[in-house]
Amino acid sequence: MTLLRCLLFVPGVDRRKIDKAFSLGADAVILDLEDAVAPTEKGRARQVVQEVFQSPGLPPTYVRINGVETRHGLQDLQIVVRAGLAGIMLAKAETAEDVRKVSWLTGLLEEERGLVHGSTELVPFIESARGIENAGAIASACPRVKRLAFGGNDYTADIWTSYSGDGTELFYARAKLVNASRAAGIEPPLDTVCPFIKDTDTLREDAKRARKMGFQGKMVIHPAQVQPVLDVFSPTADEVAAAKKIVAAYEEAKAAGAGVIQLDGQMVEAPIVARAKQILSQ
Ligand code: COA
Ligand code: MG
Repeated sequence: MTLLRCLLFVPGVDRRKIDKAFSLGADAVILDLEDAVAPTEKGRARQVVQEVFQSPGLPPTYVRINGVETRHGLQDLQIVVRAGLAGIMLAKAETAEDVRKVSWLTGLLEEERGLVHGSTELVPFIESARGIENAGAIASACPRVKRLAFGGNDYTADIWTSYSGDGTELFYARAKLVNASRAAGIEPPLDTVCPFIKDTDTLREDAKRARKMGFQGKMVIHPAQVQPVLDVFSPTADEVAAAKKIVAAYEEAKAAGAGVIQLDGQMVEAPIVARAKQILSQ
């Protein structure tokens, strides 16, 4: 399982920013055809995205398409189902049916283009109260869904509040996404972009909160946000050292016939060791 710690959004219409986005060390880049592209520029953005995929050796690249019920969504889908795409982000996913509709169309396009059926990942972008309440069904909508993404800016507007940066208004939605994802047997979700570009302290706290709640990584919108988010979602040297110590001590105890021991003031038993191994695998 390859966890995505940091995914950088870039408007799908801006070639200069796109080229820059590929050079910043994010685990993945998301070319946006939805909110970051003005209605009059949608056609041009599709052209730019097609050109970008001609370049060899891209890092994992996702495309966020417009809702397929909008007049742009279907056209977006037709240009993005192709070799070299990491996956498609589905803006404003609200029901499992939304996702299955796109999955069916994607399957037709895969067949037409000689791609392996089912090979295109779909990432539902959950960014409304309704989407949050349906998170469980969306997470298990179809095998193409390997992780969910949280859109906190649309979500806060939907619940009539603002993105505060302290996480209060996001707590329920985040917890729901993490739990729904794991209950459906898919990867931990991807956290929302934080809109405060210049405030790295708030970004770092926001990312730490999301990691603590069980997210695998966070989406970002600006070059200055990439490194802080990579840092937060990478285990620290201390965490790795502690995890190694736990695994070693437990192996030793198990060999001596003990199932539970005390190590540095903490109980160590099977689930603690499982968590330590997760950290080491990251
Ligand atoms: N990817 C790559 N490069 C980016 C970037 C991004 N997401 N955001 C900014 N840059 C570049 C700028 O082009 C500029 O490059 P330069 O120094 O070579 O000229 C540099 O980083 C500094 O940018 P800055 O002037 O601070 O920001 P801006 O005013 O140009 O752009 C935003 C601000 C918010 C418009 C821009 O960051 C952006 O478009 N982000 C993505 C928005 C998006 O995709 N939203 C949809 C999902 S929520
Ligand atoms: Mg949006």
